[in-house]
Amino acid sequence: MKSTFMEDPKLDFTEAQQAWWASIWDSERIRGGYADGRWVATLRTFPTVLTVPDGARGTAEIAADALTQVTVAATHRRQGLLRGMLTASLEDAKERGEVVSILRAAEWTIYGRYGYWPSTLGCDYQVVLAGNGAAIERPAGFDVRQIDPAEVIKYQSDVYDRMRVRRAGHIQRTDAMRRRALGLDGLKSRYGREPICVIATAANGQVDGTLWWMAKDGNFFDGKLDIEVLDLTAATDDAYQALWHYVLNIDLSATAGYRERAVDEQLEWLLTDGRIARRQRTWDDVWLRMLDVPAALSARRYAATDRLVLDVVDSDTGGYGQGRVTLDGGPDDAECTATPTATADLRLSQRALAAVYLGGHSLTSQVWAGYVDEESPGALDRFAVMLRTDQPPWNATGF
Ligand SMILES: CC(C)(COP(=O)(O)OP(=O)(O)OC[C@H]1O[C@@H](n2cnc3c(N)ncnc32)[C@H](O)[C@@H]1OP(=O)(O)O)[C@@H](O)C(=O)NCCC(=O)NCCS
Repeated sequence: MKSTFMEDPKLDFTEAQQAWWASIWDSERIRGGYADGRWVATLRTFPTVLTVPDGARGTAEIAADALTQVTVAATHRRQGLLRGMLTASLEDAKERGEVVSILRAAEWTIYGRYGYWPSTLGCDYQVVLAGNGAAIERPAGFDVRQIDPAEVIKYQSDVYDRMRVRRAGHIQRTDAMRRRALGLDGLKSRYGREPICVIATAANGQVDGTLWWMAKDGNFFDGKLDIEVLDLTAATDDAYQALWHYVLNIDLSATAGYRERAVDEQLEWLLTDGRIARRQRTWDDVWLRMLDVPAALSARRYAATDRLVLDVVDSDTGGYGQGRVTLDGGPDDAECTATPTATADLRLSQRALAAVYLGGHSLTSQVWAGYVDEESPGALDRFAVMLRTDQPPWNATGF
């Protein structure tokens, strides 16, 4: 698998790492191809829950199948191995009752044919740490202190879960993922060495924020070093502010890399000069495929109360979204049921629904893509108003 991703094939072969893999691999959810005495194809999924919009600020949750570790050896590509593995894997997810399947795509062109479509955005920032603009007030009563990586895990599980439900698009983060990231239990840290870990404690004694970061290689006698904020998780706005106050006051540092974040980070608005948080790259992050349209549309809430018949066209592998449904939803409640004979207000592809479902992309963008047709006048605007959310979705946990 490693060589397929252009990495050292022996990278994960310590005993501790093999034990870690064994602990997370669920044999029911792995598929592979074996030829000439070696694995030539892999695919793994894991169960998670995905937060979806529920009113202006809250979220609800749906069961999601998360697809990862998709590899086919260079010797065996374009022979249908991915198609075979993924077709069967989606069928399993559908049978298990998972509402959507999600992934992060190495390339845009691979997964559309299976019905996955971009649904959230990620953004990389570089924050200039020197100068007057790099100032943030420290919220009253907050204590920020350094602790060991093994200790930070104990706090992060609670902090992350409280953060996760504040925005649509997040998946669950497990302690196994944290141990791997931080290099605990004999594992090799994803970052190559042990990061510096801190927690932010509010005046009431509750730990509301965790952070790990490291300096990049270099010598500060030759000039200031660049640092990387590897993970910043805050359950409250004040904890976020306290952690950034800490980062902005790390001596000998020139810039902070702040990657795989939301496109609308509050950092920009907290800084004296918001422009020092420079957006470097924005990209399609989580791709989503609906496996059960009525369950997905019933699970979220809508900005306006309305009733629309959607004729969903799903010509991609599996065709799980195909059919006509009636969505009756608003800010407090929603119901979506199959109504095969109802007269359609909108005809749209499953891909379009996947793009707009979490609030990450506009319905207009899918009209541009040729994926939405208005069948009754005004239906497009009515659905767009229903789908409106205050914040774009974002997933904080790579997979
Ligand atoms: C991407 C990858 C998994 C595809 O596997 P594969 O077994 O060659 O794919 P298949 O032969 O099953 O191809 C299925 C279809 O996808 C298309 N396809 C496969 N890889 C593609 C790519 N990189 N770009 C565009 N289309 C691609 C094939 O042309 C075929 O099209 P068709 O349905 O019109 O016939 C493989 O190339 C690989 O391992 N790449 C490197 C690692 C990687 O990118 N993994 C994905 C991580 S998200």
